[in-house]
Amino acid sequence: MPTPNRPRQPTSHSAWQWLVTDDGSRTLWDVGREETFHSGCGAVAETLIVYVDHSGVLSRLRQRVPTRVLEYGLGTATSFLLTASLAEHYRTPLVYTALECSLLPSEILGQLDLAKSVESCLSGGFAKTPVADPLFELREFAELPSMIGALVDAVAEWQQRPIPRPLVTRIGQFVTLQLWIGDACHWTPQQTQLSALHGTASDANQMHTGQAAGYDAVYFDPFSPETNPELWTSEVLEVAAAALCPGGLLTSYCVKSTVRRAMQQCGMLVHKAAGPVGGKREVLVAQRPARP
Ligand SMILES: C[S@@+](CC[C@H](N)C(=O)[O-])C[C@H]1O[C@@H](n2cnc3c(N)ncnc32)[C@H](O)[C@@H]1O
Repeated sequence: MPTPNRPRQPTSHSAWQWLVTDDGSRTLWDVGREETFHSGCGAVAETLIVYVDHSGVLSRLRQRVPTRVLEYGLGTATSFLLTASLAEHYRTPLVYTALECSLLPSEILGQLDLAKSVESCLSGGFAKTPVADPLFELREFAELPSMIGALVDAVAEWQQRPIPRPLVTRIGQFVTLQLWIGDACHWTPQQTQLSALHGTASDANQMHTGQAAGYDAVYFDPFSPETNPELWTSEVLEVAAAALCPGGLLTSYCVKSTVRRAMQQCGMLVHKAAGPVGGKREVLVAQRPARP
């Protein structure tokens, strides 16, 4: 099938262009890599279905269960901001570790206009799959503007004065963002220990009581295996899988057989789930067994 010709507009930086995706939400086109940060079929729909819903994070936050997320590739911060808004709405502690080698300029993050994108996606009925509707509501994202403001300020400050360790910052009342800036191929859980957050976030402290160590969900979201092969190796996937707590879920838009096999070889229970309406038919869900 030919790739649809979607409209692109310049940003304030020549390295990226805005792209309006089919659910009306915006993402970025990386000019050098010739690749978008999200599916052209719908940036917000992909994020809400593949990452927020299929990872179990939506259900945890709606039930007010404290949650820890690890993301490969912060990018435009769409996944972070949508997850953080839900945590804030449900007044539930969220610790979010994001791995990123190349932080986007803060002004680009501020110009994404995510609140408008969410409105467009939800009003158009794109945030569901052909077989299930998680019933996202606009009011669940009411905190988006304040989350965006706090993130943009934190990133701008870091960009003025980079520090050689993970940036740990409180976003809103319930969200702790731990941003690890570097090549995710070299990341191990020891470098951003969840326990290291104890001194900075009392909610993070509380959430560990009675919880198994590790992340509840991994959003595995690098660029495609064709242009970003270093993050799709069995070694990196093994580290990502091992970072999960027993029963935790790793999700990704990519269902390539090599990726599924690599996950199975680390003992993960792998299945394909339905993608968002109008988008990829199948996406990846891999679960770390509850008991080894
Ligand atoms: C598809 S985008 C992620 C989209 C993102 N989840 C969002 O919500 O916008 C992939 C991201 O992975 C980052 N990336 C690529 N290779 C990386 C590496 N080796 N280490 C860390 N980050 C990497 C890119 O800079 C880019 O921001």
